[in-house]
Amino acid sequence: MKNKILVTGGAGYIGTHTCIALHEAGYDIVIYDNLSNSSCAAIKRVSTLIGQPLEFIEGDIRDAETLRQAFVDHQFFGVIHFSGLKAVGESVTKPLLYYNNNVSGTITLLEVMRQYNVKNLIFSSSATVYGDPKFLPIDESSSRSCTNPYGQSKLIVEYILEDLALSDDSWNLIALRYFNPVGAHPSGQIGEDPNDIPNNLMPYISQVAVGKLEKLSIFGNDYPTVDGTGVRDFIHVTDLAQGHVAALNYLQQQVDLQRSNSKRSSSKSSSVGFLPINLGTGKGTSVLELVSAFSSISGQAIPYQFTSRRVGDIASCYASSDKAKNVLGWEAKLSITEMCQDTWRWQSINPTGYD
Ligand code: NAD
Ligand code: UD1
Repeated sequence: MKNKILVTGGAGYIGTHTCIALHEAGYDIVIYDNLSNSSCAAIKRVSTLIGQPLEFIEGDIRDAETLRQAFVDHQFFGVIHFSGLKAVGESVTKPLLYYNNNVSGTITLLEVMRQYNVKNLIFSSSATVYGDPKFLPIDESSSRSCTNPYGQSKLIVEYILEDLALSDDSWNLIALRYFNPVGAHPSGQIGEDPNDIPNNLMPYISQVAVGKLEKLSIFGNDYPTVDGTGVRDFIHVTDLAQGHVAALNYLQQQVDLQRSNSKRSSSKSSSVGFLPINLGTGKGTSVLELVSAFSSISGQAIPYQFTSRRVGDIASCYASSDKAKNVLGWEAKLSITEMCQDTWRWQSINPTGYD
């Protein structure tokens, strides 16, 4: 029997791509989303791409009743938990909304999971938990600190998961710390669809390229980097999706091992506990390098101007991806070229997103 996975936030940018990868890997999926930052159109496109209807529950993770009903109706092996709000600037002006949605919502989800004895979770964390890194590449043992409510909400959830694992060794909890997800499905049918003017670099560049925005502001050209602009570890969203499949396969292996060991002997084999893993490529690309790659791949000019640094930005950030490789057997395959090609395909076929 195929294992069934509850995918909270499965209608969103990373969720839709991961649902396709999970389906291709043989998992059954149920999407649970309140559509606060996504639409049914995205779910329909995923259904078309996988060639079958998707099970979708419209619900909020803070609504314990609707969540419980999902666990009554389905026997889940585990949960991939994408749902959350993610705009850093908005989190500064609406901290309660962010803590309520991202932290309280996760607590409600964990309580319902415990009630139904589903104790396998993959959580969407972020490289933002590393704050301003003391060394590069950043590995999972680096110290953690955040300067905005969005980042704090990710860090608080990580602390909650750590405490939960310490309190009860039957939990298997993986926090995947994403670096900078970009790109789109190679079909051009699903991709990132920001509600408003994008905050992040890649969607901003692609909207300038397609003529929706006039010019890019590059936040600072005086960083101690290769060309003075910020350096980030951009990762293709389909590589990221495969990282979730690898994490789920790993959880499944561990749970199988725990079961067979407990049948064979009285001693229990240890659970995964709390396991943080970076999902990045390990390579840094500067803002100017990305602009130049996107411009040559799309054949469009990307006008830009240098402005002052954005508050809270750091100079450079890229991952050590050794742990993902050693533990999950996963590594990113796609380059900046594919990231730009696929973003441009999605943006040019869908200039107004899913509308
Ligand atoms: P997204 O906004 O596209 O997807 C999130 C989904 O969650 C949306 O479909 C939204 O409607 C849903 N949602 C939000 N609050 C909900 C609630 N209370 N109940 C049910 N559904 C809810 O974002 P994304 O880029 O796909 O990010 C997915 C996750 O990864 C988020 O937790 C985000 O913080 C994290 N993350 C994203 C990035 C990035 O750059 N995109 C980087 C690091 C971490
Ligand atoms: C940002 C968030 C981070 C979040 C991540 C994914 C901040 C400070 N950090 O990361 O918490 O996890 O998005 O949602 O907001 N840039 C420009 N012009 C732009 C946009 C960005 O020059 O219009 C530059 C930035 O200064 C940075 C780089 O591009 O050097 C990448 O920015 P962005 O895509 O916003 O990602 P992060 O800042 O890494």
